[in-house]
Amino acid sequence: MNSIIEISERLVEIEKLIAEGRMNCAPESEPERQYYYMAKLREHIERKKQELGRPLYACTKTFGCQMNARDSEKLVGILKIIGYEETDSEKADFVVYNTCTVRENANLKVYGHLGLLSNYKKKNPDMMIAMCGCMMQEEHVVEKIKKSYRFVDLVFGTHNIYKFAELLYNRVAKNAMIIDIWKDTNMIVEELPLERKFKFKSGVNIMFGCNNFCSYCIVPYVRGRERSREPQDIINEIKMLVADGVVEIMLLGQNVNSYGKNLDAPMTFAELLKEVEKIEGLERIRFMTSHPKDLSDELIEVMANSKKICRQLHLPVQSGSSRVLKEMNRVYDKEHYLNLVDKIKKAMPDISLTTDIIVGFPGETEEDFLETMDVVKKVKYDSAFTFIYSKRTGTPAAAKDNQIPEDVVKDRFDRLLAEVQKNANEQTKRFEGQVQKVLVEELNSQLEGYVTGRLSSGLLVHFPGDESMIGKIVSVELSEAKGFYYLGQLCKS
Ligand code: SAH
Ligand code: SF4
Ligand code: F3S
Repeated sequence: MNSIIEISERLVEIEKLIAEGRMNCAPESEPERQYYYMAKLREHIERKKQELGRPLYACTKTFGCQMNARDSEKLVGILKIIGYEETDSEKADFVVYNTCTVRENANLKVYGHLGLLSNYKKKNPDMMIAMCGCMMQEEHVVEKIKKSYRFVDLVFGTHNIYKFAELLYNRVAKNAMIIDIWKDTNMIVEELPLERKFKFKSGVNIMFGCNNFCSYCIVPYVRGRERSREPQDIINEIKMLVADGVVEIMLLGQNVNSYGKNLDAPMTFAELLKEVEKIEGLERIRFMTSHPKDLSDELIEVMANSKKICRQLHLPVQSGSSRVLKEMNRVYDKEHYLNLVDKIKKAMPDISLTTDIIVGFPGETEEDFLETMDVVKKVKYDSAFTFIYSKRTGTPAAAKDNQIPEDVVKDRFDRLLAEVQKNANEQTKRFEGQVQKVLVEELNSQLEGYVTGRLSSGLLVHFPGDESMIGKIVSVELSEAKGFYYLGQLCKS
């Protein structure tokens, strides 16, 4: 990945070639082809701005996980370089929805927003709307948009997001709805513009897609097969980020523990971490998500010996029942999971463990649920994301006829949540009174004169401070544990 300056220079170079008549059509190779379309769009946006006598605004709304958040930074990077100003308001000239489909309610939210947009578009007919991300990889969704949401201008999926500039240009040139969805890809296009949300921290994709096919999950269908990025591309990107002020990175993949298996020169995730650790100026390394079936002893050792890898591990258990885990196709059982947790805690007694849990998987009995409660009691997670099972069309679990009644699921969910909260309270108390390093992230929106920072464990601490501290790592006394967060005081040293 080149620096932001190099990316602008590259675009200027292409603009020159077009102006001098030495580039009359789009090049075949990537990413040059996209730079060609960015140059064309820049010209178009400039003309539009002159016509209207005002700036053009673009709003990107992101649903779903960290992968989508990172993808949106790529979309915003392109929008900014072609001349749009960023806005949070959906009453914009261009609105992009980067969607998620992991659970039904994620879909419903998007349709709700679309209804609102149709009214805005009636008032501003020049307005453009693009839909992308995981939901668009589902045929029935695209059919619904074609039929009921005709005012949408551009629809694309997760595999061709790098073509955003080209697709947008096609939309502008043809003045008709553009739909481009790929079933899968083995392409990874590097060196495109990107606009980071935070100056001091960043996500970094290390792999795309998922090969695990957990029986409830839609992600492998909408994100395609697992592909790892070349280690050198990852290292170069992180070096560039550090040179640009980043001190903390989050390595991203659906199952980071299987990183590198499909590279020409295979490499383990633990080996990659050792390389990342060497990068000077980088202070903190996080990663997600770790699948328990692939978490190696080598990784535990690298983590335990590392000065930079944060003391946090997100280790989704999904269920505590070995029978349900088998049905979920998770390829580990309760015993394996608990042994793994023991090993991790032995190597790093101060580790903060977090997890994902699904309640109400088809056929889940009260006994199965109690096994999940048992795991939660034994592991003592710092926090847990708890989800009610959501039926995803096309997944094996959706075809099961023993779906659990809503009231039973709700009752289990409430009991689980109470246990999770009880543990979180106890766990947070562990560090009360200690002084720990904190990366200051933002001004506190509720407490005037306070800032919010993140501990190595991932927990938040609010303490008196000001804007000048944002992005810095400081020592903070964790004066009072408040369940999921702390109130603290800055230490002078
Ligand atoms: N790759 C990650 C998870 C990505 S999806 C992993 O395997 O850990 C994030 C979480 O959403 C999952 O861990 C799971 O708990 C939840 N989830 C996925 N599909 C779901 C479904 N159909 N219903 C409810 N929760 C689901
Ligand atoms: Fe979904 Fe399982 Fe892949 Fe995670 S590992 S994304 S839960 S299929
Ligand atoms: Fe959602 Fe896609 Fe992430 S379905 S959770 S945005 S990979």
